[in-house]
Amino acid sequence: MGDRMTELSAETIQQRLAPRAVRYYDRVDSTNDLALDWLRAGAPAGAAVIADEQVKGRGRLGRTWHTPPGVALAVSVVLRPEPAHLPQIMMLGALAICDTVAASGVSNAGIKWPNDVQVNGRKICGVLPEAVWDGDSLLGVALGIGLNVRVNFAGMTLEHTAASLEPVLGRAVNRLEVLAALLERVDFWYARLGSAALFDAWKSRLTMLGQAVTVNDLHGRAEAVAVDGALLVRDSAGGLHRVLAGDVASGT
Ligand code: BTN
Repeated sequence: MGDRMTELSAETIQQRLAPRAVRYYDRVDSTNDLALDWLRAGAPAGAAVIADEQVKGRGRLGRTWHTPPGVALAVSVVLRPEPAHLPQIMMLGALAICDTVAASGVSNAGIKWPNDVQVNGRKICGVLPEAVWDGDSLLGVALGIGLNVRVNFAGMTLEHTAASLEPVLGRAVNRLEVLAALLERVDFWYARLGSAALFDAWKSRLTMLGQAVTVNDLHGRAEAVAVDGALLVRDSAGGLHRVLAGDVASGT
């Protein structure tokens, strides 16, 4: 791997990712904020904001996302999908990460609905798409992706639920190369947005289909997913519930 101090820099990123439009920062509040600003200012689809450290990283459901310096990837990609394809954006993010970690040598990455990428039941990556509208018209989406590369969670509340790529692989990786591979997979799936292939690939990587789950205080069996990404949960009385957002856990 490269020297950790020079692994990510404006120069290395510009060179490696050319001709993509990119902006790199050592430290930001949230790459999603900067990508949303750039999107409003006319950034092209595929433009990426990358930071070494986030101090106010955002997660799903109003949570914070931990991106200390030198140990993770925080990237937000500007996309300009049709409104009808919005539900597939979060599938795209999770799939791109799954492909990237699989290509680096992790054979058992899966997606915990809707878009947490997990290895051995621990979360290695999170995806946060945020859309910008002008009235009824969709201007675009900032697809935020956070990947733990060598984050030390020891002593943190996340210690037993989070994972990092390097300890899982048992070897060092270069964050710039992981980033380049990830953006290539984002491009790949973005070119297939709206396709059955994208939905099928996302569905095939979901880890909990057919299992007993609890989600939003609802207990039942994760029976299926709908094309809009909703999780369909069958309760013990036979009722079928559509769940659009939430945290799913194993067991009832
Ligand atoms: C989750 O809760 O699982 C989603 C986490 C998303 C984190 C990424 S890191 C890059 C981008 N910037 C943010 O503030 N959040 C996303």
